[in-house]
Amino acid sequence: MRKRSIIQMTLVGVAVGAALAVVAVFIPWLPEPASDQAGWIDSTYWLVTIICVAVFAVVAGVSGYAVWKFRAPPGDTDDGSPIHGHTGLEIVWTLIPTVLVTVIAVYSGVALAQAEDLPEGHRVVEVTSEQFAWTFTYPDVDVEGQPLTTGELVLPIDEAVELVLTSKDVIHSFWVPEWRMKQDAVKGIDTRTVVKPTELGTFPVICTELCGLGHALMRSQARVVTPGEFDAWVEEQRRLAREGGSIQGQELFAQQCGSCHTLAEAGTEGQVGPDLDEALQGADEDFVRESILEPDAVIAEGFEAGVMPDNYDELFTDPQVDGLVEYLLEATGGG
Ligand code: CUA
Repeated sequence: MRKRSIIQMTLVGVAVGAALAVVAVFIPWLPEPASDQAGWIDSTYWLVTIICVAVFAVVAGVSGYAVWKFRAPPGDTDDGSPIHGHTGLEIVWTLIPTVLVTVIAVYSGVALAQAEDLPEGHRVVEVTSEQFAWTFTYPDVDVEGQPLTTGELVLPIDEAVELVLTSKDVIHSFWVPEWRMKQDAVKGIDTRTVVKPTELGTFPVICTELCGLGHALMRSQARVVTPGEFDAWVEEQRRLAREGGSIQGQELFAQQCGSCHTLAEAGTEGQVGPDLDEALQGADEDFVRESILEPDAVIAEGFEAGVMPDNYDELFTDPQVDGLVEYLLEATGGG
C-alpha cells in the first residue's frame, strides 16, 4: 500500500511538472531576441525556469495527492504514527538541490563570460543618465571638436559594443528588452555592459530603476543600422551640428526635453517641468535661450529649482542650441 502510494504520488508530481514546464516554454513570454547575448541570457532563463517549475510542480503534486489520499476519516482523532527520520530520503533531498544549484551556477557563469566577451579594438559608447533622459556619447567620433553626443543610441549591426554607463544624479538602469542585457547606472562610478545587436530596427531604451517623478517616461530608442547607414548617420550628425536649424531643434527636443515637458507641436506630454505651450507663449529668443542654458534663472510658478539639468551648454554645440531655440519659438508662436 505504502509503496504504491509513493509511486502514484511521484507519477502525479512528474505529470503535473511536465505539463507546467511545457506550458511555460511554449507561451511566448519574451520579446524577439535581437542580440548575440540574448541566446545565452534566454537559455539561462529557461534552464532556471524549467527547474523551478518542475520542482514546484513535484512538491505541489505530492502535497495535493497526500491531502486527497491520506485524509483522516471522519471521527478519527488519533495522532499519526511517529516517524524517526529516513536517511535515504534526507540524502535524496540534499543531493538533488545541490546538483540543481551547481548546474545553474556553472551554466550562469559560462553564459555571463560568453555574453560579456569583447574583441580587441571594440567600439565604446558612453551612456549618461539623469532625471529623466539618456545621452549617448561616441568618444571616437569627432563632431566640430567634440565627441558625438546624441539622445538616441545608434549602432551598426553585428558589431560588439561596450556601453560604459554613469549617472549624474540618482541610480538609473539601462535596458533594451530585445537585447536582454541590463545594467545599473550609478553616479561616481562607471558600470559596463556589452551588446552585439544582430537585428536591424528600432528598439526601446527603458529605465528600469525607479528614479523619480519622470521614471516611467525615461525612454529613448536604440536604432540598429547597417555599417553604411551608420557612417551616413555620423555624417548627418556632423552636418546638423554645423548648420543647426529648427529641424535639428525638433529632433533634439524629442530626444532630450519631451519626457519632462509638454509641447503640443511635438506631441509630448511630460509633466515634470512646465507646459511649454503655456510657459513660452509669446516669449522672446533671450528668454527661451536662458531657460535652456540657465534653467534656474526664472522658475515657473508651481515648479522647483534644481530639477532641470543645468549643463545643456556642455551637452549641445552652439548651433544645436540655436536650432532648439528656433524650433521652440516656431512651436510656441513666440519670437
Ligand atoms: Cu531613470 Cu528610472
